[in-house]
Amino acid sequence: MIKPEAWKIHNPSGSRRVLATKRLVGERWLEVLAAFDCRVELYDAEDMFGEAELIEAIGDQCDGALGQLNEPWNEHVLTRFSAAGGKVISSYAVGVNNIDLGCASRLGIAVCNTPGVLTEATAELALALVFAAIRRIAEGDRYMREGRFLGWLPQLMLGRQITGRTLGLFGAGRIGQTVARALAGGFGMDVLYFNPHPRPELEAYVADLAEVAGRHGQPVPSIRRTTDPDELFVHGDVLVLLSSYSPQLHHLVDARRLSLMKPAAVLVNASRGPVIDEAALIAHLTTHPEFTAGLDVFEFEPRLVEGLTDRPNVVLSPHTGSATLESRSNMATLAALNCAGTLSRWPANTAVSTNELATGPLRQLVPSLLNAKELDWPLA
Ligand code: GLV
Ligand code: GLV
Repeated sequence: MIKPEAWKIHNPSGSRRVLATKRLVGERWLEVLAAFDCRVELYDAEDMFGEAELIEAIGDQCDGALGQLNEPWNEHVLTRFSAAGGKVISSYAVGVNNIDLGCASRLGIAVCNTPGVLTEATAELALALVFAAIRRIAEGDRYMREGRFLGWLPQLMLGRQITGRTLGLFGAGRIGQTVARALAGGFGMDVLYFNPHPRPELEAYVADLAEVAGRHGQPVPSIRRTTDPDELFVHGDVLVLLSSYSPQLHHLVDARRLSLMKPAAVLVNASRGPVIDEAALIAHLTTHPEFTAGLDVFEFEPRLVEGLTDRPNVVLSPHTGSATLESRSNMATLAALNCAGTLSRWPANTAVSTNELATGPLRQLVPSLLNAKELDWPLA
């Protein structure tokens, strides 16, 4: 339900009506949109937008929308958006599985995202979940707050060590590669990865790390790609999910694959919730008390499957992978440039890093236009 009083208008004299379903981080995004003749209608409250709210907010006339990853930009909504004159969905996220890209392309609607500037933030959160889960940080924190710590004990909160063990990485995009570099470099982990394409640059990096580590008598990492996801489950001591989401990945992690895993492995999901069958995970956490998990995303987000919060061996974070001030501010700038740029028909960027576009002087390039090819958009 939309609260009328939550709307704030920025640059009321702008001739293009741009809808922002949430307030983004920082101010620069608003300045960019105002500089390119956009009147920004900003919903300044925390209510989530479903289909009905999106359609109400779009109204009869809307040129562009700055949307969020949990909004259903499906065929129904996109058709209404197109009828209202909508030309761009600029999503404040890297993952765009909530947007019907094929339908948007057919309707001539540009779809943009914010890659690159959230790579480090999301990798850092995935790493935080690995350590929080396997070293029982959240459980220990609850223990302390409950006043249960009566003194040092040899067996208190035993976790497992990751140094020299195996990282199973599902999805070696920018974020996955950053996690792999950190764990191979910092802890000499062997990286076993699954990715549609080989990552020679990552393999070369780990080979160089191995050479340095060997020379200095440190644990020597290795790297290997597999085309069989099951291998990650069998061999991974740390299994990190960082792929983008498509329906083929629904319940990639199910009871069968969980049963392949080592009893004291750690599973971290920072991609999208439906990759894991949450009920199967709860059952596995229950029968395998030494197994741990760290989840930033949830199958029925924001709802949690019953029983998950009863499990002490899982750490939960509220989908905050990209939630650093640096990352979210830069995402906001990119989202604004994506929107203002498509409305102004700037060429789509293919050469400049999105970090540079977000932090450097203004370049008249659309930072990340996902359906440039389908829309026959000029490239630069
Ligand atoms: C976060 O999940 C994103 O896709 O940006
Ligand atoms: C996202 O930016 C990824 O490529 O992992």
